[in-house]
Amino acid sequence: MRDDFLWGGAIAAHQVEGAWNEDGKGTSIADVMTAGSKDKPRKITDGIIPGEYYPNHEGIGLYRHYKEDIKLFAEMGFKCLRTSIAWSRIFPNGDETDYNEEGLKFYDDFFDELLSYDILPIVTLAHFEMPYHLVKKYGGWRNRRLIEFFKQFAVTVMERYKDKVNYWLTFNEINNQRIIDNPIYSWTNSGIIYTDSEDKLETMYQASHYQLVSSAWVVKEGKKINPNFQIGCVLAATPNYPLTSDPEDILLAQKEDDQQLFYTDVHVRGHYPRRFLKEWERKEYKLDITEEDLKILSEGTVDYIGITYYLSNTVSVSTEAKRLNDQLLGNEHLVENPHVKATEWGWAIDPIGLRYYLNMLNNRYELPIFIVENGFGYADQFDNGRIHDPERVEYLQKHIEQMKKAIVSDGVDVIGYTVWGCIDPISFTTGEMKKRYGFIYVDRDNVGKGTFKRYKKDSFSWYQHVIKTNGSII
Ligand code: BG6
Repeated sequence: MRDDFLWGGAIAAHQVEGAWNEDGKGTSIADVMTAGSKDKPRKITDGIIPGEYYPNHEGIGLYRHYKEDIKLFAEMGFKCLRTSIAWSRIFPNGDETDYNEEGLKFYDDFFDELLSYDILPIVTLAHFEMPYHLVKKYGGWRNRRLIEFFKQFAVTVMERYKDKVNYWLTFNEINNQRIIDNPIYSWTNSGIIYTDSEDKLETMYQASHYQLVSSAWVVKEGKKINPNFQIGCVLAATPNYPLTSDPEDILLAQKEDDQQLFYTDVHVRGHYPRRFLKEWERKEYKLDITEEDLKILSEGTVDYIGITYYLSNTVSVSTEAKRLNDQLLGNEHLVENPHVKATEWGWAIDPIGLRYYLNMLNNRYELPIFIVENGFGYADQFDNGRIHDPERVEYLQKHIEQMKKAIVSDGVDVIGYTVWGCIDPISFTTGEMKKRYGFIYVDRDNVGKGTFKRYKKDSFSWYQHVIKTNGSII
């Protein structure tokens, strides 16, 4: 393992900060999402409806507790913390030209606190929290004008924090929006709810194009602000396995992987893959893509690939195979993999899939890879101030083991590993508090009750030891 390996944790502003309407912050798209559960989708409401519960409004209160939280991260020995900047804290509506100084000041203090412990901030620009006003007035990323608003936000924060932040990520899990049948993804990626009369795929490609251009522009302009910036993309990395050796299954799995890698292909290679140009031609899509856009795409290729890894998928064309009852992904070909177990939320636990995928990306792109999320969502039990979480340790241990094999035996250049939800966040897909990920337990429940008090789980000292030995205990 390299000596400068970036061990740490990951969070996102809207899932932890709270203070949703304080110090000038505007409403974000996460602020109109209610709490749900595994079997009950989160609702996306038209504005804030009295009587509904919106868990992101208070998050886990990190806006006020951050000094205490960072101290605990430092105690674990974090080398870095991945977080995001809430766009609507800086530009409350998104389309104004004046920034909100109080918002910028919060992140100044936050980053200074991290740096005082030698913890590097790794910053995502867009992590499911664009200003709600941009949806209401412009239709979200359906609209080309979003590029201009996003650029303004990105330049403002990159200028402001150019001496504090070196590692940037543009759009979190940009490929999630390919899942067009579950509104949570088009909403959180792009502020879009599809209408019945539109071709969802065409709209999705258009919004994606505007984001890809914005991302490339940020890479290009970021280097002018600070040539040392390292700017990456974020891929939700989910390998697709064929259930059987039936060539149809194998082809299907390959197609699923290729769809997923559409975004990374553009981020890394700087142009649209032929297979998609052909698809657009075949379907007679009239996408708004200019020559200037294509030039920007080619000039703004990323320095590294950020991946989030939780699970693998298995697919089959067979109608006999046991279908996965997964409302989240809405893919009719998904089937149960008899070789892996799943979490309580139905996510297949597959550490070897991480090594497999790291190799796939390495073979395809040969760029440094940063594992910016990996973690275990679990309903931890609170036992008189103690939280025993051996299941989490086992999950992480096995994934780190496979990452090490990819680095040491396969020659993949992995530069860092940040555990998702290092302090229990609000779950993105379900809005629950019960689906916990942290080394630090937060006293808060699914209906918003609790003191926000923090407690160390058993995994806290385990991860501390992992970092101290640079992973050699695994
Ligand atoms: C990733 C997101 O999809 O997975 C995070 O980047 C999210 O925001 C994480 O929290 C885990 O998902 P969930 O639904 O368990 O919180």
